[in-house]
Amino acid sequence: MQAWAERPQEPAGPVVIDGGALYAQQCVACHQATGQGLAGAFPPLAGSEWVTGVPELPIKILLAGLGGEIEVKGATYNGAMPAFGAVFDDAEIAAVVNYVRTSWDNGASEVTADQVAEIRGAIGSRGTWTADELSEHF
Ligand code: HEC
Repeated sequence: MQAWAERPQEPAGPVVIDGGALYAQQCVACHQATGQGLAGAFPPLAGSEWVTGVPELPIKILLAGLGGEIEVKGATYNGAMPAFGAVFDDAEIAAVVNYVRTSWDNGASEVTADQVAEIRGAIGSRGTWTADELSEHF
């Protein structure tokens, strides 16, 4: 992690958001504290290619939600993932995305609030994604 002292352009210093706390409030009921989800109902985030792939994938899913058939770690789900674009601001989306990308041995790279802002601007206000629409990112 970059030391804050190396970033003098941040006037008062960034507010550090606890992505784990946001996960515990907004995600744990479905995806569980272990990130394993619930068989047949809620897909796992631990070891999920949708979480650890390019940053666009989890960011887009968080911003606009996801519905219809999706395959995660070889199992098929067909549920509804709520949109969090109106619940979380860009920094909060980044914090929760980083939590799931770095928990449970996921080990994926971190994303920034700027990346979230850019994607939010690009997709605008839209309905839930289907897995097919996001397949361009694989
Ligand atoms: C009400 C239950 C529910 C909540 C709350 C919820 N999800 Fe989901 N999530 C789902 C379902 C169901 C799917 C699969 C959607 C489908 O079948 O198309 C999913 C899919 C996903 C996926 C893509 C598939 C995978 O398993 O990797 C990600 C990433 C994800 N959710 C992250 C989150 C995060 C982070 C939060 C909290 C901010 C969250 N979800 C909150 C139900 C939920």
